[in-house]
Amino acid sequence: MEKNQNLENQEIQRAAKIITIANQKGGVGKTTTTMNLGVALTRLNKRVLLIDGDPQANLTSYLGITPGEHPYESVHTLDEIYLSKRPLDAEGRLFFITKSASGVDLIAADKALSGVEYYLFTRADREVVLARFLEALKQDYDLILIDTPPSLNLLTLNALCASDYVLIPVQPEFFSLEGIVKIKESIEDVRLRWNPNLSIIGVLPTQLSSRRKLTHEVIRALQMELGEKLFETKIHDNAAVAESSGHAQSVIEYDRTSRGAQDYMAAAKELILRCSGKFVSQYSETTLSSQETPLCQNI
Ligand SMILES: Nc1ncnc2c1ncn2[C@@H]1O[C@H](COP(=O)(O)OP(=O)(O)OP(=O)(O)O)[C@@H](O)[C@H]1O
Ligand SMILES: [Mg+2]
Repeated sequence: MEKNQNLENQEIQRAAKIITIANQKGGVGKTTTTMNLGVALTRLNKRVLLIDGDPQANLTSYLGITPGEHPYESVHTLDEIYLSKRPLDAEGRLFFITKSASGVDLIAADKALSGVEYYLFTRADREVVLARFLEALKQDYDLILIDTPPSLNLLTLNALCASDYVLIPVQPEFFSLEGIVKIKESIEDVRLRWNPNLSIIGVLPTQLSSRRKLTHEVIRALQMELGEKLFETKIHDNAAVAESSGHAQSVIEYDRTSRGAQDYMAAAKELILRCSGKFVSQYSETTLSSQETPLCQNI
């Protein structure tokens, strides 16, 4: 990555870039990536807002926040945004922002979010509620990352409609590409119907075990299929990453010398370059079009 220098000073743009972290497969590292990438970006002087878009509310608890309980009695949650009848002005929006000890701002979630889908079905603007809400907040941040549930439901759809980019974490295993095919179809649907600007910023391999032969085979297949969309940075399976969330800390705070912290700092640098269109991928030349190589071949 020597060709990709001066990361802290890279201008992304005045208004925040909004990135949905999505993969309908469970346990691939969506929430872990949202949290650690978010904190890593603050260490590179970016103003970061994280949104917990999953009723499991794991991101909120990874950040050590329990809405409604001391000292978080006054924390407002994402379900209230979906349920509000009127659009909120910029001041009203600030009401929903919780400052975390890790340095990122958060729009928190709790289990009440699971009831929101039912209500949304009755609304004509059901896909774009979040997009409208975020409009005024964009000026206050460089990056907004949205964590999503492991399904392509209305909450995920709202995140995609509000976003400039999708980042797809994948665990290198036999069926990794099948998950990517499904999310690509949803992205195409969102592009056609609501948000023509949406694109994939990259596919980030997570929980990589370098000693397994299968890992290398899958990564090679992902390279062939995805070309420059595959992140050069890989997130390794690392005990500090798993431990840190139990301590309500990012891995960068928990052990900044760990492999996990280094991986997420590198991923944050690569993300900034990708957002500014300045990333030069070593995989560009291996790209094959999907017409030439059917998805999932060789895996
Ligand atoms: N790089 C890593 N090294 C070790 N453990 C990891 C790593 N990344 C994630 N994990 C662990 O894997 C588990 C699943 O991660 P995470 O909750 O981020 O996945 P998810 O995709 O958000 O899951 P869900 O689909 O249920 O929302 C967690 O216990 C987490 O601590
Ligand atoms: Mg999650």
